[in-house]
Amino acid sequence: MDFVLLANGPESVRNLSIFDPASPPAEAIRSLSFLVAGIAAFIFIVVEGVLFYAVAKFRSPGGDRNSAVRQAEPPQVYGSKAIEIAWTAAPALIVFILVLVVTRTLWEVERTRPEPKAGDHALYVTVIGHQWWWEYVYESYDDRRLGFVTANELHVPASDKKSDRPVYLTLKSADVCHSFWVPRLAGKTDLIPGHTNEMWFQTDKPGTFVGQCAEYCGTQHANMLLRVVVDEPDEFERWLKHEAEPAAEPAAGDAAARDAKAAFMQQSCVKCHRVRGTTAYGKFGPDLTHLMSRQTLAAGVVANDAERLRQWVADPQQVKPGCLMPAFKLEPSELESVIKYLATLR
Ligand code: CUA
Repeated sequence: MDFVLLANGPESVRNLSIFDPASPPAEAIRSLSFLVAGIAAFIFIVVEGVLFYAVAKFRSPGGDRNSAVRQAEPPQVYGSKAIEIAWTAAPALIVFILVLVVTRTLWEVERTRPEPKAGDHALYVTVIGHQWWWEYVYESYDDRRLGFVTANELHVPASDKKSDRPVYLTLKSADVCHSFWVPRLAGKTDLIPGHTNEMWFQTDKPGTFVGQCAEYCGTQHANMLLRVVVDEPDEFERWLKHEAEPAAEPAAGDAAARDAKAAFMQQSCVKCHRVRGTTAYGKFGPDLTHLMSRQTLAAGVVANDAERLRQWVADPQQVKPGCLMPAFKLEPSELESVIKYLATLR
């Protein structure tokens, strides 16, 4: 089983570095971390410098332990106003500077979310964390109502010279605490049961950005992977249009495909998964309406290809041990029908 999909991807897809930001909140965090590390390094050098100077200059003169030099008391200093003032004022000043820059960074990272309005090119998505996958409810884009649901791969538009295209996420949880973290786009923000958080990012770099749930949430926490696909604006429009459509219906003349669909609808799959436009209405698992348009399965764990889809449906516990989808021990013919139907969900 291939668990190292990320390691096999192109360089840009593997990039999880906070030092290569592609969005204003991530840039603000990197600048702050450089500044704090710089100040800390300066303090370290000063303190260690004084320490080594003192060690070298005042080291024991050696010789007899009872000699007059070693027995003599060092000069006794009873305070110095200048030094007292200096070592109170300097740290206070440093802390004050840090408070100011941290406040400014918070300001940039936690931008107040504006009301959607036409012409703002802003995307609003509600993210719901589940053990161990991500649900995305597309609310609106450029003040157009969307209202469809997808899972695990978040598509967003890239900003360009003509306009910024900010993405505002509303973060919720269906079960336990999770944390949304795509290091190149923004800092971590938790998804907390019974509480709503918000975050934002925007980028002018099309491509795939990866991330990871950053709050321990159970057995498969480490495999609760994030993929954010940044599309060119035109491409994003096409994606939106396609995702908003209900599931593809098998052609009237294609008896095999219709049988496969009928067989799928009789399985327990429909209790947990929704396929829009059909009687599959479950809400516990990921929406499957356009399953085949996704690059990966099982929240980014394996590539979405015929072979892995079969392994996943046959026994999810082999692919993602502990995940909440059980193996239904389908008969080979049932498995074939389910796979055949899923493959039509383009
Ligand atoms: Cu979800 Cu860790």
